[in-house]
Amino acid sequence: MKFKGFLKDVTGASRVTKARINAFDTASDKPVTLDPIAEVVKAWHLGRVTLEVTEVRDACRTAKTVRFKRCDGDMPYFLAGQYVVIDFEIDGATISRPYSISSSPSEARGDDGYIEITVRRSRGDGFIADYINDSVKVGDRFTALVGCGQFFYEPLRDARHVVALAGGVGITPFASMAKEIARGGLDFDLTILYGSVSSDDIVLKEELDAVRCDRVKIVHVLSGDEPDWQGERGFLTAELIKKYSSDDTTYFICGPQAMYTFLRGELEKLSAPARRVRFEVFGQAKDITKFPGYPAHLADKTFNITVRRGVHEDVIPAKATESIVVALERAGIRIETGCRSGECGFCRTKVVSGSVYVCPENDGRRAADRDFGYVHACAAYPTSDLVIKIPIL
Ligand code: FES
Repeated sequence: MKFKGFLKDVTGASRVTKARINAFDTASDKPVTLDPIAEVVKAWHLGRVTLEVTEVRDACRTAKTVRFKRCDGDMPYFLAGQYVVIDFEIDGATISRPYSISSSPSEARGDDGYIEITVRRSRGDGFIADYINDSVKVGDRFTALVGCGQFFYEPLRDARHVVALAGGVGITPFASMAKEIARGGLDFDLTILYGSVSSDDIVLKEELDAVRCDRVKIVHVLSGDEPDWQGERGFLTAELIKKYSSDDTTYFICGPQAMYTFLRGELEKLSAPARRVRFEVFGQAKDITKFPGYPAHLADKTFNITVRRGVHEDVIPAKATESIVVALERAGIRIETGCRSGECGFCRTKVVSGSVYVCPENDGRRAADRDFGYVHACAAYPTSDLVIKIPIL
């Protein structure tokens, strides 16, 4: 039996060999120009596209919504909750920033398809946010990467009822989800608990009101002192969250960094299982010295980073409290970035020598990268002079 099986294997293999020789003999001399797999991959991963601003409007007294159409084809596919990375050319340097898309995927389809972002004016620490609020106008063009990030609903993983805990401009991914549910493009129940200081600060209020339906509930929670306010008051406490939760709920959280620490504690009180809690990445740490293990005695130091790009070598200064990405951008050296939160790996950088502090909240490296001295430059801060290697762009 074994011998028969062996013969069958050998003759089977020789049949395949003959078929291959025949295929080579009869093949066209012309090179294959179309690889169907590559075409599909290209359609899904378009790379950077060109967007043009078609509208700028107020989203509340402190935030603006900017609408973009694509100039060089159809708007790329994305999921409600994902973000767009936009490149800004400022003083000869290219600086990229991620913004959650506040419009729905359905609105991006068709000839007039568009995406929108909603950006709040900074409180003195975000010059791109202020640039968008003050200077971006209809007709401006930007290159951008549309459809990044992992913050979206996944029916195989998430419960049918999602309670979204939003603070400030962190409402944007939930606005996209709410609009998509209202249009029938997503199949889950969404309750948004949206914390703001005052009713004037509520971002996208009218748009959220317009998509309320059986499946989309929006609860505004004000922390400021507003005597006439009829709705919920205070913070997004465990008690309040419980009131709007069901037996099986997934919690999605997006908002300022301080809110994350608070909500972790509140969700622990509810014994919410880790698989039912999803935090959106929150961008670069606002104050890295506040994170556990940061070497505070180095906070006022400035180090030298030797940056190797192919055969080029530059030496740039870098403050101990600014990430390697920020130091590179300040020096006008381009590095690919996406999330700026350690998640996507676009800014993966080899540390040849020297030491860094990696923000524990944003350490999205693979284990092998940790072992072999790679960091995500948006989440790594110099704690000595460094030599790093980055790709040439
Ligand atoms: S930009 Fe995403 S990991 Fe650094």
